[in-house]
Formats: sequence, C-alpha cells, structure tokens
Amino acid sequence: MCGIVGYIGTQQCVPILIDGLRKLEYRGYDSAGLAIHDGKGIELVRAVGKLRALEEATRERNTLEGTLGIGHTRWATHGGVSEENAHPHVAGDIALIHNGIIENHSALRKRLEGDGAAIASDTDTEIVAHLVDAHVRAGKDLVEGVRDALQEVEGAYAIAVVSRKDPSRLVVAKNASPLVLGVGDGENFAGSDIPALLEHTRRMVIMEDGQMAVLRRDGIELFTLSGDPVEVVERRVDWSPVMAEKAGYKHFMLKEIFEQPRAIEDTLRGRLERELGDINSAEIGLTPEVARSIKRVCLIACGTSHHAAMTGHYYFEQLAGIPTVVELASEFRARDPLIGDGDMVVAISQSGETLDTLMGAKIAKDKGAHILAIANVTDSAIPRMADGQLYTRAGPEIGVASTKCFTAQLLALLMLAIYVGRQNKHLSDEQTRDLVEELARLPLHMRDVLTGTRQLVSNIARRYKEAQDVLFLGRGLNFPIALEGALKLKEISYVHAEGYAAGEMKHGPIALIDASVPVVVLLPKDSYRDKSLGNLQEAKARGGRMIVVASEGDEDAHATADEVVEVPVVNELLAPFLTVLPLQLYAYYVADMKGTDVDQPRNLAKTVTVE
Ligand code: G6P
Repeated sequence: MCGIVGYIGTQQCVPILIDGLRKLEYRGYDSAGLAIHDGKGIELVRAVGKLRALEEATRERNTLEGTLGIGHTRWATHGGVSEENAHPHVAGDIALIHNGIIENHSALRKRLEGDGAAIASDTDTEIVAHLVDAHVRAGKDLVEGVRDALQEVEGAYAIAVVSRKDPSRLVVAKNASPLVLGVGDGENFAGSDIPALLEHTRRMVIMEDGQMAVLRRDGIELFTLSGDPVEVVERRVDWSPVMAEKAGYKHFMLKEIFEQPRAIEDTLRGRLERELGDINSAEIGLTPEVARSIKRVCLIACGTSHHAAMTGHYYFEQLAGIPTVVELASEFRARDPLIGDGDMVVAISQSGETLDTLMGAKIAKDKGAHILAIANVTDSAIPRMADGQLYTRAGPEIGVASTKCFTAQLLALLMLAIYVGRQNKHLSDEQTRDLVEELARLPLHMRDVLTGTRQLVSNIARRYKEAQDVLFLGRGLNFPIALEGALKLKEISYVHAEGYAAGEMKHGPIALIDASVPVVVLLPKDSYRDKSLGNLQEAKARGGRMIVVASEGDEDAHATADEVVEVPVVNELLAPFLTVLPLQLYAYYVADMKGTDVDQPRNLAKTVTVE
C-alpha cells in the first residue's frame, strides 16, 4: 500500500523525504517519486522500482533543492507500474500525492476530460490533482480548492498537495487512509505513519477521518472538511526505533492481526455497490461473460491460503450454485488433473509466488481452464500468468504466519462467489442486498472482537500454554477455521495441534481426549450449531478442557465450557471472519509466552518457491 511524506521548513527536504519513504518501505511499493518546490517552481522526479532508483534519479538532477516537498511510494492499484503512473501527479500548478482509492474516479475522469483536462496517467490519483487545479483556476485559494475537490471525491484518501504559486504551505487531508503530522521548530512534517517522522520529531498529531491540515513553517492549522477549525492536539511518542517499525506492537504478527479490520475495508473498497445492494464488477477480475460460462470451480492453494480455499468451497456452492472442488496445489499438480474448458481455476496465494500454486495454475491453463488469481502482491508471478486478477489489499504481511491475508482472501472469495451467483442468477436481489449490508458492517464487528477479546484470550493462553497437544473442532464453514487455528498454533508456538471436522471426532480424535488436552470448539450460531454443541458435550463428558468460541449470549456454551470467548451474531457465511480472530490471538499469546520467534518461526519461510 502506498506511503506518503511531506515537509515544510528550512532544511533541504530531499534527504528528509527519501529517509521518510525508506521507513515506509515495509508497506510495499513498486515506484516512487518526489515533488520539490524550489522557490520558483515545482521539480518532479519519479522512478520505477526501489528507492535506490529514485535516489539515482535525484542525484542526476543535482540542482534539486528546496525546503518544501512531498514524497510517495506507490503500490500499483489503478494502472500498471510505470513512471507516468507514479506519484506525485501534476495538474497546472498543483502537485499531489495520494494513498487510498478514489471510488468514483471513472465518472470524474469522464467529466474532467469533457472539460478539456489532459490526463496523463491511468491512476485515480491524477483525477484529484485535476479537480484541485480546476477549482484553483476558477479563482479558489489552494486550501479551498482542495476542500472543494474533496467534496466531489468518494473513497479513501490521505493526500498531500503543494502549489507552484504557494511556497509557504503544504495542504494535507485524510479520510480512511492513515495520516500523521509531526511538529517541529520552524518546520513541520506529514507522513503515513509515526515511524516515518520519528527521526525528526517526537511531537505528533494523529489526524482523524474527515480532517484537513495546512502546514506552514511556523505552525499547523487543522480543520474539518467543511472548514470548521479543530484544536491541534499534540501527543509525545516515546517509541524506540524497533517499536516504531511495528507501530508500537511487540511483533509484526500482532500488528497484522489488529490490522484486519482495515485490510477488510481496503479489500472491500470500490467493490461494493451499497446503494444498489450489489457487487461492483470493476475490480473482480472476471468479465460477466466468463462468469456465466463457468461450469465448475477449482480452488488451489497451499498452507493458510488453502484453508481460505476450503471456506470458499461453501461460498461457491451456496452463493453461485456451481460445483466446486478444493485442492492442495502440490497434490493437484501431483496427478494429471481432469480440468479444462468450462472450468475456472482460482489460484489463491498471499505472495503470488508459491511454486506449487504457480505450477498448478500453469498446468490448468495449458489444459484450457480459465485462471483467476487471488493475490496480495501486485504483479507477482501468479497474477501475471493468470487470465484475471482479484487483489486482496491487506498491505504487506511481514509475519511468516499469515493472518490479515487470510481474512482478506476469505473476503475475495466471498465477493467473487456473490458476483458469479449474480451473473448466473443463482442469487436473488434480496439475498445479495443483505450480504452486501452485512459485509459493509464486517470491519466494525472485527474491531469489536479484537479489542473485546484480546485480554480474555491472553488469560486463556496463560492457563493452557503448557498443553502438549490441542484439538480444534469446527463444522461446516468453521471446519477450515479449526484447521487454521491448529496451523497457527503449530507454526508459531511449536505445540502439536490438530484441526478436525467436529463430526469426525468420534471416528478417532475422541480417543485422545483427557484433562491434559484442551479442545477448542467453534460454536457460532449457525445451521450446524446444535450438532457441534453435541460434540462439545461428548468431549466434556470425557474429561476434556473445553475452550469455546460462541455467539454472544449462548447459555449452553457457558454451561458446558471451561472458557467461552464470545463473538457477535452475524450471517453464518461471515462467521469465519470473526471466529478466526480469537484463534489467531490464542496462537500469538501462547507463542509469546513461550518466547518463540513469533515473526520468523523456525524452519518456516514466508514465500515458498521450492517444491
Ligand atoms: C508459507 C507461509 C504460509 C502461507 C503459505 C502459502 O507456508 O508460511 O503463511 O500460507 O506459504 O503461501 P501463499 O503466499 O501462496 O499464500
């Protein structure tokens, strides 16, 4: 996801901006750029690739000097990776950088082009630069011009704007994308996060959604988007450099667990038509014609992505009414799979580079199947070879054990299944509208679960951390979540754990149950809840220590279990997004209490490019 920095002061800003961008590298990017006000005009430098390329390009322009500037790292969303699409974007006197997604960019582009604007890139960002320019040309002051432009924009943004005509101001604004201001002496800063600014100041102002700020050398003014002044509240940040990298969390994994509501919001953005109660086809990666021609869906993936695929199985059969198979990519390619015309193979991979998934997709493509990639890393190998791409927008995942990419994959599969179900008329208007509404509320529920259960799950982890074996049980949509809970625990705490379909317990695992084996049961209010409650009681009767994830107010769960973690009641198709959260936290806290290397567990790699 993109990173932004801005500076106004008395020092040369190029090194300050590049240094800030380096701190934001963890967000992932494929091009970068700077706009520097040299007192007379704005100099623009952009380069594809790593910051090294941008530094090289700035060195070649040895006259690049100025004390006001903006810098950006771009993670391609709208438009490919190229210098033209790199930020800053310039329109007239305006240079602008942006992190986020402008949802109504197509309509705005049409209007601006109709008015004669020459739009040079494929990005949604350049549209905002032209909007500001149009208002300024019409006689508005820079701040009013930005404000008026933002009234026309729908979507998520953190923007920073400079004007050739105004070397004394840097204007920034935020809605749903992060933006922090740094307060200095005779200088002020803006950036996507605190670490980007920490080397220069510890005095921070955390901007809220719907706010704008005007930074001058000698001060900061804060406003709402409608122009009302807001009090500037500074807070002092005393993070060490290591803490800063992890935004104050002890490990990347914990940070990423807590980033999930945001990852879901970003992955949803522009893909839900809330007013129409439908899915927007623009960024699903599949044309209506292909969607209607699919006879069978085959989901292939490895590791955690395979568990997302297993949940996707339910989504495709229930919502799209299409026969679906799920395969471990390594096993899929170990045979000569019967696959071809009429089949859609969905290759799911966080990294987009996993060799087994890539090779499986290649085999299917050679046999004539339609390949759709669900990936988090733009332009990685799997999306590059696929016929269509549906990107999750979880941002870079650093912890080896996948968390936020998992829930983002669930969402991608769910949206894809709804979309196909709409195209082949399996899904009614009403069902779709209900799902779209519930999806829009999902990030809020996820936030509630994470903040509401964190302490409880940590206490449970403390009580059970010495267990040598843990059993995870789930049924239906929560069976893959039980597998994922067990995998998380294995991966990072090195505790033996098994995930089982609750109905299979009596065919083997029940023999393992005694007081030394905690049993984690997923029991949200869904069509299978009563059956799973029966399994819970069977395990309890054999002396098992029961940890249950149940819906709020489930009296039976409280009466039977030793520990209950509650999640809100939602449409059962969405329950996995909530039930997985306490399991991720449980694995995290057990591992942390055991002192393992949580972010880089032994023997595991983030991207597996071996067979
Ligand atoms: C490795 C990682 C897992 C991941 C799996 C598949 O094993 O440690 O977290 O789920 O690879 O990776 P992919 O990038 O294809 O999703």
